[in-house]
Amino acid sequence: MIGSSMPMFVAVGTLLHLFGGIGSLEPPRERRWTAVGASLEPLPSEVRTDVVAGTHGIRLSGDRTPFVVSRRMENGLEAFPRDHVTLEGWISIDRPSAWGGIIGAIQDNGTAETGIMLGYREDRPFFAVSSEGVADVDGRMTYLVGRTPLVIGNWHHLVGTYDGVSMKLFLDGEIVAESREQSGPVRFSGDEPFVIGGYFDQDEDFGLDGRLREVSVLSEALDAEKIRRRFERQRELASLPPEVDTTLEWDVPPFLCWPAVDAMSIVVEVSVPSAVSVVVREVDGEVAATVSRQTPATLHDVRVDGLSPNTKYFYQVVAEGFGQRIESDLKTFRTAAGRGDPFTFVAIGDTQSQPAVVKRIADLAYETRPNLLVHAGDLVSTGGNRRHWTDHFFPNMRPLIERVPIMPVLGNHEQDASLYYEYMSLPEPERWYAFSYGDADFFMIDGNRSLGDQSEQIDWLESALAASDAEWKFAVLHQPPWTSDSDDYGDTFVGGSRRGDPNARNITSLLEEHGVDICFSGHVHDYERTFPLIGDEVVPWDEGGVIYVTTAGGGGSLENFDPANTVFGHRKARRHHLVYCGIHDGILEFQAMDEQGRLFDVLTLDKRDGRRAVARAARRGVEISPRSPTWRDAPVD
Ligand SMILES: [Fe+2]
Ligand SMILES: [Fe+2]
Repeated sequence: MIGSSMPMFVAVGTLLHLFGGIGSLEPPRERRWTAVGASLEPLPSEVRTDVVAGTHGIRLSGDRTPFVVSRRMENGLEAFPRDHVTLEGWISIDRPSAWGGIIGAIQDNGTAETGIMLGYREDRPFFAVSSEGVADVDGRMTYLVGRTPLVIGNWHHLVGTYDGVSMKLFLDGEIVAESREQSGPVRFSGDEPFVIGGYFDQDEDFGLDGRLREVSVLSEALDAEKIRRRFERQRELASLPPEVDTTLEWDVPPFLCWPAVDAMSIVVEVSVPSAVSVVVREVDGEVAATVSRQTPATLHDVRVDGLSPNTKYFYQVVAEGFGQRIESDLKTFRTAAGRGDPFTFVAIGDTQSQPAVVKRIADLAYETRPNLLVHAGDLVSTGGNRRHWTDHFFPNMRPLIERVPIMPVLGNHEQDASLYYEYMSLPEPERWYAFSYGDADFFMIDGNRSLGDQSEQIDWLESALAASDAEWKFAVLHQPPWTSDSDDYGDTFVGGSRRGDPNARNITSLLEEHGVDICFSGHVHDYERTFPLIGDEVVPWDEGGVIYVTTAGGGGSLENFDPANTVFGHRKARRHHLVYCGIHDGILEFQAMDEQGRLFDVLTLDKRDGRRAVARAARRGVEISPRSPTWRDAPVD
């Protein structure tokens, strides 16, 4: 317990006294919580996860944010200082993570950034402030990051101060970073949860994995001398030997993303900050590329380029940290097929639950040895929960994703969480992107963001589609523009339905105009292939229609269909499944198979007679000759 070995610690009685300011308009000058056994005293209003007593301070599991002092900054419990503020903590990090929090109150979601927090990214401390003085409609945060790393398992004294003019970050009594980017009072939207021991907002919940000794909030910006004295009061903590397991191991063994004709991304996560290097070899054993990342980190996204198109390679990752070295197993990948090369891909969606199903679908996909895996979103159930990625998604998707690169779109369950962007290595701006594979271009869309007129994304989509010269064009977005589902967009057993996602519907005219062949979606946990559509009319595919495929059968609980067929509804199946496609020489062979590998839908699209190109040109008032064999829009004389 505190006090016995370290008599200088503030006693619990004092803490209660310091809480006297609650309810008054004036924020208390200082509020301090200190570890007593397995608790922080004074106890916050909610204790959210298991807390195990440590020798010094409280040992926290890292799963979720353990202490929520108040759910919302606005609820009046907290009179949080805004003009002059100091956040302080004595902490020890056992396991660095991409985002970690110690004390603060933030919302950092997309472009809306408000609040204040003391935390860490990987093994670097940060102090984050969003202020009223920054001209940004929904707030912009400065993450002031210290260059000096925290020593894993050691106690550190961290302090962030803000006086309305400058932000300062102190580590073990010394200033390590300063910024004047923010000015004026701290900006709060009112939605910020005031938390201790985690990084917690609407999208994210990362608990501190390590130990927490003491935290404080002060309504003054302490000067360097006061901070040094506060560090000195307990400095013997900083010289205690580390109490942590620093065994280097794979948290996420290597997997593949973002295939290109000359490049591949390899993503890996390890247990302690490490340097990594990726060695890529030709099949004859000769080294084709070695890429090293020397800055120690737990999560690495390594882009290997300079490779040859449509070529098989072996790869291996070596991680070195804390005096240890580990090597991954030898794996393979194939770089992307170029124009004219045949290739195959598998499309799946909604692997968010039922791990056994996810594993069966992924194994079945791997059995087909596709070149590429396209994922229609809802990879995980909770995008901000690291364990959903490390314990569910990645293990169940193996060996598929360590041999076949994955290209996903964001589902609603990803919650736009930073972990999606950390783990997935994708072309800019990642939230949406396009890529080429063989004779196809894929347009990967964020269906959670506006696709309305003049939205940033619809402008991008229009220009990306216009710039595409690919034979085959596929759109992928999580929410289906068209679906015969029973109850997601109405209640078809008793009434009407909008028949699809209204925001996603915004893209259909562009898909029609630019000759997208198939639009893949997830979200509605079933399988559906519509008749080809232009507007809401069924038009044969080789006369220009767009086929909408819902492939949301990766594991999410199955949903149901309208009891009567829709006008556009064609093949439907209430089954876990995958879609398999092969493309060669103007022909697309499409199959859907269930989790037992039973084929339940087959389709062949053939462009060799040029009919689709002629019909599409005719819709634009352009007459082209249906010469055979040609499937180009421009006739060859
Ligand atoms: Fe889903
Ligand atoms: Fe969904």
